[in-house]
Amino acid sequence: MNIPVVLAILVVFAFLAFRKANLFILALAWWIGAFVFFRFGFTAPIPASVISIYMGIVSLATLAFVSSSEQRREEVSRPLLRLMTEKRFAPLLAATIIAIPALAAANVYVQMNVPIEPPFFPRTIHPASPPEITVHEKKISIDLGDNPFRELEKSNPQEFRQHVENGRRVYYQNCVFCHGDNLAGNGMFVHGLDPIPTNFADGDTIANLRETFLFWRASKGGPGLPEEGGPWNSAMPAWEKILKEDEIWDAVLFLYEFTGERPRAREEHAQ
Ligand code: HEC
Repeated sequence: MNIPVVLAILVVFAFLAFRKANLFILALAWWIGAFVFFRFGFTAPIPASVISIYMGIVSLATLAFVSSSEQRREEVSRPLLRLMTEKRFAPLLAATIIAIPALAAANVYVQMNVPIEPPFFPRTIHPASPPEITVHEKKISIDLGDNPFRELEKSNPQEFRQHVENGRRVYYQNCVFCHGDNLAGNGMFVHGLDPIPTNFADGDTIANLRETFLFWRASKGGPGLPEEGGPWNSAMPAWEKILKEDEIWDAVLFLYEFTGERPRAREEHAQ
């Protein structure tokens, strides 16, 4: 709760009670006070639609109260009657008659006067990766690490192939639905997704990324994206919940093997 706002409302009511304010003024103060309380009285904002509902209830309750006895009806209508009948209030009456439609018109004008533009979604496609992540309780350096199986490409090509084949299995069991069977980001789920899944086969994307970057993105998914550069709304799952660490590294190997791309080297990245 926003204490200063609540205190301010209470002070106004205390003042009105002290002045023995007319019922009309009190009812008006109730109504405005309730609105200020709902709108500004809470640290977490209440949705406008909910405020409208509450204010509808407050209006009905106030009306019911002020019209509940002959004496109250008489008391609320007295200032209104005076405003309308007494000569000295004529300018105020005229101002009120002009102000009510003018306020309504101003409100409509302000609401309509929004430039028509497509929604703006500034999104960094490749946000900066964290220097280090923890996957299955193991720390993995994104900046300084490498795909642990990449070296097998030269030292043990046969074992390397096994990892790539395992990556192929992982890909076609898990990733194909979104990233597509030719890795072009056109799997059968894409029509429901915005942003669409990354196209790994465009000859450009993964060639500019390091394998550890892809490992980060695959293991932490959309939920692991940093705050800045959003909004993300990414459907990319956090695969660490489903796959083993090795399976993710293998899938990354497969992405490069299938597309014939080479990962960006660490030396280049460090500069
Ligand atoms: C439910 C759909 C879905 C599935 C399944 C899925 N992805 Fe994604 N993936 C996405 C979307 C959408 C994006 C683009 C938005 C983003 O970057 O988070 C993405 C992005 C990525 C990226 C980031 C690429 C870049 O350019 O930064 C990697 C890496 C990736 N996916 C790997 C995988 C792997 C590996 C699998 C399987 C283990 C997989 N994805 C399964 C939806 C999916």
